[in-house]
Amino acid sequence: MLKEKQIVLGVTGGIAAYKAVELLRLLTKAGADVHVIMTSSAQEFVAPLTFQTLSANPVHTELFNLIAEREIGHIALADRADLFVIAPATANVIGKIASGIADDMLTTTIMATKAPVLFAPAMNVNMYTNPIYRENEERLRKHGYLFVPPEKGALACGWEGEGKLAAPETIFEAIVAALSPQDLRGQTIMITAGPTREEIDPVRFISNHSSGKMGYALAMNAQRRGARVILVSGPVNLSAPDGVELQSVASAREMQAAVMGRVGECTAVIKAAAVADYSPARRSGVKIKKKNAELSLELVKTPDILAGLGALETRPFLVGFAAETGNLAEFAAGKLKDKNADMIVANDVSQADAGFHVDTNRAMLLFRDGRILECPLMTKDALAAIILDHVAAETAARKND
Ligand code: C5P
Repeated sequence: MLKEKQIVLGVTGGIAAYKAVELLRLLTKAGADVHVIMTSSAQEFVAPLTFQTLSANPVHTELFNLIAEREIGHIALADRADLFVIAPATANVIGKIASGIADDMLTTTIMATKAPVLFAPAMNVNMYTNPIYRENEERLRKHGYLFVPPEKGALACGWEGEGKLAAPETIFEAIVAALSPQDLRGQTIMITAGPTREEIDPVRFISNHSSGKMGYALAMNAQRRGARVILVSGPVNLSAPDGVELQSVASAREMQAAVMGRVGECTAVIKAAAVADYSPARRSGVKIKKKNAELSLELVKTPDILAGLGALETRPFLVGFAAETGNLAEFAAGKLKDKNADMIVANDVSQADAGFHVDTNRAMLLFRDGRILECPLMTKDALAAIILDHVAAETAARKND
């Protein structure tokens, strides 16, 4: 995901410095080449050797280190970086950079870079709310510097409140977003995900094996690329990515109400949810007793949400999914037409490495003009990126029509 990306991780002197180690692990695991710069107070909290070992690169600690200066130099590092992340960023370093002070390796390199700079502040709540700090942050934001706000919680200084370093995963996500093309900016994309639950009685329901992983990967990727994301989700064991507007639903009817209620805001709708096709005709208000050897349930068709969207007079760009166990292309082409969608993502759920529960998928993308694109086995994250490439391209083409 971050292959061939050069990231400079600036670590400043806060108790949260140890969490920068975890962030470094996430970055290297995603393929980034990370160069760490530590301020002298950061070295009081964590030894440079930890960062050096885990980044497999020398850690920069001094501005005028002649050997390092010859080999790399602070300007070279500033030029070479795709992104700077300062985690944790103290009130002190933020104040220095906001005032144009460049008196150590970190502040000098930041001053010299044209790469995006992302701060993850961590400090005492009173420092964080201090008007001088607020002005410094505002000033930096105005000049395009990026921030991952701290969380609320118990602070190391004993206070409760805002100032706790954001979780390494949250900072990692902000880095990926800052390095992603912003080709979905200005769009509102609604994504449905997960299964639906059709209740039989207060304790039983009809559902399916959908894990929601494909829909959640789409939501995460669309948000990275600048879209406002509305995630209408059936019951799943996943947490919604930060910043996504989550609307939780249970039944197909509830999903339909949520989708139809918000479709007017959307430029695209991606229906990755595995909506139950049938629902009990009547829900028993009390638990059905096991009296007889057989029990028949009368089922009625649920509303077809995608077809309902396809029938709208003005409709957003529509992407449907087709989970099949054979004759993929034929069934998917039929769905594209019947539901009046713009694109269908078809996958064969009879294969163990694709479809439900697993992290990988193998799909076929079908378009209205008859084009078919085969996507080989890949992660759901990678497939989400390809689907969104097409959403971005097709919606841009529509705009220019
Ligand atoms: O007809 P089928 O269920 O195979 O179509 C799958 C596509 O239609 C998916 O995108 C799914 O989210 C959507 N769908 C729907 N409402 C239903 C059933 C399916 O929107 N009741």
